[in-house]
Parts: sequence; C-alpha cells; structure tokens
Amino acid sequence: MERLQKVIASSGYTSRRKAEELIKAGKVYVNNQQVTSLGTKVSSTDDIMVENVHLTKAKKEYYLLNKPRGVISSAKDEKGRKTVVDLIETSSRIYPIGRLDYDTTGLILLTNDGALAQRLAHPSYKIAKTYIAKLNKIFSLDDFYKLKKGIIVEGRKVIPTKLKIKSKDNQKGTSIVSITIVEGRNHIIKKIFQTLGYDVQKLKRESYDFLTLGNLKSGEYRSLSLKEVKKLYR
Ligand code: URA
Repeated sequence: MERLQKVIASSGYTSRRKAEELIKAGKVYVNNQQVTSLGTKVSSTDDIMVENVHLTKAKKEYYLLNKPRGVISSAKDEKGRKTVVDLIETSSRIYPIGRLDYDTTGLILLTNDGALAQRLAHPSYKIAKTYIAKLNKIFSLDDFYKLKKGIIVEGRKVIPTKLKIKSKDNQKGTSIVSITIVEGRNHIIKKIFQTLGYDVQKLKRESYDFLTLGNLKSGEYRSLSLKEVKKLYR
C-alpha cells in the first residue's frame, strides 16, 4: 500500500504537491469514490481517477545522455536555461540521476523511475564514476601520490579508486588526469584538485558504474536496455 499522492505522482500525471492539491479539491476518485484525505493509502489493484482521467502506470524510461557544456542537470531551471531533460524527446516526466555541473560534460542518466534514482543516489550504493579532468598546471608526481593515498576535502577523506595521468602538455603547462571515485558530493572533483592547488579547466564524466559513453557524441543519448537496468538494480 502506498500513499495516494505518491502513486499519482509516480504515474507521471503531476507532481506530488499538485496531487495533494487535487486530492484536497475533490478531484480524485479511488474505485469510483471521492477521496479528499491525504492519508489515504492505495494498492496496485485500485482504480484511480484524477480530473476524470484514469491513471495508467507510466512506462519506466531510462536514458544515458552525453551532456554538453552549458546545460543544467535538473528537470527545470528557474532562469530558463536549457536542461538535460530538454535534450530528450519524451513526454514522460523524467529527471537526471545525480548532477553534473553546468560546465561539465559527459555521462548522465535520466529516468522517471523514482525507486532506481533513489537507490543509486544513496551513499551506501558505492557507484564508481570516472572523470577526465584537464588541469591548469602540470600535475606533479608528489601530488599524484598524495592524492592516490587519499586527501581530506572539506573535512572528509576521499580516496580515488583509480588515478592516472593521461598526458601532460609541457608547453601549455596543463595535464589531463583520469580519476575514479565512488562518492557523490557536489563539485567533488573540482574540490579535490583545488585542495591540491589546481584548477579544473575541463571536466568530463566518462563512465558511471559499468556504463560508458560509447560512441555517443555530445548531446546524443540512448535508452538503457532491460539488462542494463537490471544490472543497476542489482
Ligand atoms: N565533480 C565536479 O566537480 N563536477 C561535476 O560536475 C561532477 C563531479
């Protein structure tokens, strides 16, 4: 049994807050009986009608997007900027799982499956994410070994599960580093390198758990296969 407003929201009909308003306004019927109490619980066999529309369960959708720069990782932006959801052709109410910064590119997942999104966002669900960072200086070996052992960022230790210097440009004085971490604090990669005295000039997420960008170009996306979704749920 689940709360009526939650069931309405997860059908994709409207948000939970709006669903609550509709219930209070007498616009919701369960098994042909008007329901106005927010405490009402329903089961999967109950027939729910909202504003004269019978709810059917929203088909779950899962997308893997290669996010371009200059796009917001949320379903809506109060400043009207383009969001990752705008890049996907669907009429379902999908949203991104986790976040990438406005100027970060690369792999981001989107879905309307709240259960999976919640699961993956939980810290106990240690998902490895690999980023390629372009640094504004040559990454010294000293700092490489320091970071490999783990450094304290804003009071908490971060230990990369993988760390590799991919290239150095001695003329421009920049380096490209590949770093894999399991934690999900906001701006964590930029903070890691800032702690060591570097600025991240470019950042791209190359992989998320077993998923990689493959051949997807910037702005392109694909649906996840059932097998991939099952694997994420494991
Ligand atoms: N770490 C960052 O600093 N930015 C991102 O977008 C993702 C991880």
